[in-house]
Amino acid sequence: MNYNKSGLIILLASVFFSFAWFIYLVFFSTHMELAELEQGSVLPVNDSTAGAVDVSQIKDPWISSEVLIAHGSRVYQTYCASCHGKTGLGDGLAAAGLKPAPRNLITGEWKKGGDSISMYTTLVQGIEGSSMVSFSYLSKLDRWALVHYVRSITKDKVEDNIEKLKEFAKTAK
Ligand code: HEC
Repeated sequence: MNYNKSGLIILLASVFFSFAWFIYLVFFSTHMELAELEQGSVLPVNDSTAGAVDVSQIKDPWISSEVLIAHGSRVYQTYCASCHGKTGLGDGLAAAGLKPAPRNLITGEWKKGGDSISMYTTLVQGIEGSSMVSFSYLSKLDRWALVHYVRSITKDKVEDNIEKLKEFAKTAK
């Protein structure tokens, strides 16, 4: 009988590798992930899995932290990047033609002040006569996280008065 020998070898090889891959996926890769999670490994903050970090339990969100900055950067990409740009340069897709132009958050030069209280207030009130609207519909925590994020990327970081900030945070909407 005549058959294509190399074809048969390729077929057998691919069956073998599919099977080996299946075994790997079922018995090795998932077990590795589970084992890692069981060890209580800390999730990295700056990649896509960071969404799994629960920030909702943070008691004093007005105090900046790596976790809140990372959370702020995600909120920023959703609500702010369209105007202020992915990296804060004021060059978002929706920025063209806006007057006044969205602030370049890296260079800053704030109208309303760059300290945390002012920036938080800007997020609550918006800036009249501009497309910078109020973001009071975001949660308090999201707004604080945004303030921490913007202050982490700007070159125009205005010093906070910590006592004042603490007082402000007690009553801030
Ligand atoms: C629709 C476009 C738009 C969106 C979306 C937007 N902004 Fe703005 N933003 C502006 C414009 C325009 C200005 C400048 C207003 C001005 O100069 O009067 C501004 C100004 C600012 C300023 C500068 C305030 C100051 O004192 O100078 C900050 C900080 C800021 N935005 C943060 C944010 C954050 C954080 C978000 C996301 C929650 C956001 N913006 C979403 C358009 C936008």
